[in-house]
Amino acid sequence: MPVSIVIGSQWGDEGKGKIVDLLSPEVDVVARYQGGANAGHTIVWENEDGSTEEFVLHLVPSGIFHEGVTCVIGNGVVLDPKAVMEEIEKIESLGIDVDGRLKISHNAHLIMPYHKAIEAAQEEERASASDDDEIGTTGRGIGPAYTDKFARTGIRVVDLLDEDALRRKLRRSLEEKNAILRDIYDAEALDVDRIVEEYVEFDQKIDPYVTDTSKYLSETLNDGGRVLAEGAQGSLLDVDFGSYPYVTSSHPTAGGCCTGLGVSPTAIDRVLGIAKAYCTRVGNGPFPTELENEAGERLRRKGDEFGATTGRPRRCGWLDLVALRYTSMINGFSELAITKLDILSGMESLKVCTQYRYDGKTTRRFPSEPQSLERVEPIYETLPGWDEDISDVRRVENLPLEARDYLAFIAEVLDVEIGLVSNGPRRDQIITDVQPMAAA
Ligand code: GDP
Ligand code: IMO
Ligand code: MG
Repeated sequence: MPVSIVIGSQWGDEGKGKIVDLLSPEVDVVARYQGGANAGHTIVWENEDGSTEEFVLHLVPSGIFHEGVTCVIGNGVVLDPKAVMEEIEKIESLGIDVDGRLKISHNAHLIMPYHKAIEAAQEEERASASDDDEIGTTGRGIGPAYTDKFARTGIRVVDLLDEDALRRKLRRSLEEKNAILRDIYDAEALDVDRIVEEYVEFDQKIDPYVTDTSKYLSETLNDGGRVLAEGAQGSLLDVDFGSYPYVTSSHPTAGGCCTGLGVSPTAIDRVLGIAKAYCTRVGNGPFPTELENEAGERLRRKGDEFGATTGRPRRCGWLDLVALRYTSMINGFSELAITKLDILSGMESLKVCTQYRYDGKTTRRFPSEPQSLERVEPIYETLPGWDEDISDVRRVENLPLEARDYLAFIAEVLDVEIGLVSNGPRRDQIITDVQPMAAA
């Protein structure tokens, strides 16, 4: 198993962090391939005294809590140097040694102060426009940083090495960015010298971690090592396959792994899709199975559905198998992990969307363009719920029959095996003996 990918199959926050942490002891390297500090990957563990501890990772891969694992921030990530340094310090304050275990790609693009300033101004402008088309971003500068990357005006980690060149590049960039900030958005202009000073200081701190990570990954694989690629966000937020423009600016889907790390598609032999047992979405954009009622409120409350990065309440809804069939098609999931099944306990019945009604016709197609997705009406199958608290169950046979039927229904409709079921935030709250039940 040279490279496995863990991919969010919905709109993010499916529990990728928990699953990556769980699988880390089986691999040598965990590597993030896209996104930036917009991600919030939560890991919860139990201390020796029985208390639980939670850590939210934004940039450092979710394998960092396992000593023998090396973590890579790949070239496809947009790196906020301040955020990564703060995160490293926080991890080290728990007594975990990051030295020699974290590698940052020299080719990763940097989030600059003007990316955040421009994004904030853009979002404010969109929110106040008559058609109110605010995306509801996380405000981490992601879109503007990827814009510069593809416009070939970005600043990369490697650029920090040469202060004079950095100053020259920044001066050129800031001429344009300050004109945008001042003249278009009536916002404050930024000062070159202050940014250079700040980023040169980051360079000194980041330097020990910077390397050619694609070379490192290639050598690891050649030596028989195993790599777990950690996706951020979710497939339905992919810049090409999501409901554009209500998406993020990168490729959380499987292809992003190759370009974001520099690994070959032939090295990938496992594509694990992570799906919540229901759906959530943060930010704006169409969400066909959204529940804007007491049932949605209940899912939010019980599932503690508040953004791990911004604290915003997550929009909640029923499981959408039309959407999952679509992301399964794009990613070619070799198996699924279903998370947060415990949150469904206590619901009398559960609805699952299997088709949409669009323009008076039923369809199994997921139309990613928002103007169509806004108009689809979900068609549901209703399945019986279960009352029992399942958070202590460790074997599939001990799940209530209705919970097993719910899983079997998902596997059958999607024609994808369920390999893992998560029934609580902690590492030990996992059911691994799901097969062959789900395929039955
Ligand atoms: P990620 O972005 O995909 O890593 O997911 P987040 O960390 O943003 O959100 C998932 C949330 O659900 C976190 O608070 C996790 O601790 C929690 N979580 C993960 N799996 C489970 C589960 O099976 N049951 C419950 N109750 N919580 C879970
Ligand atoms: P993880 O990795 C959920 C959403 C934002 C917004 C859109 C664009 O924790 O699953 P951006 O800041 O990326 O330009 O925002 O994408 N978004 C996420 N939603 N989980 C995430 O990451 C997200 N990262 C971005 O809310 O709708
Ligand atoms: Mg998250």
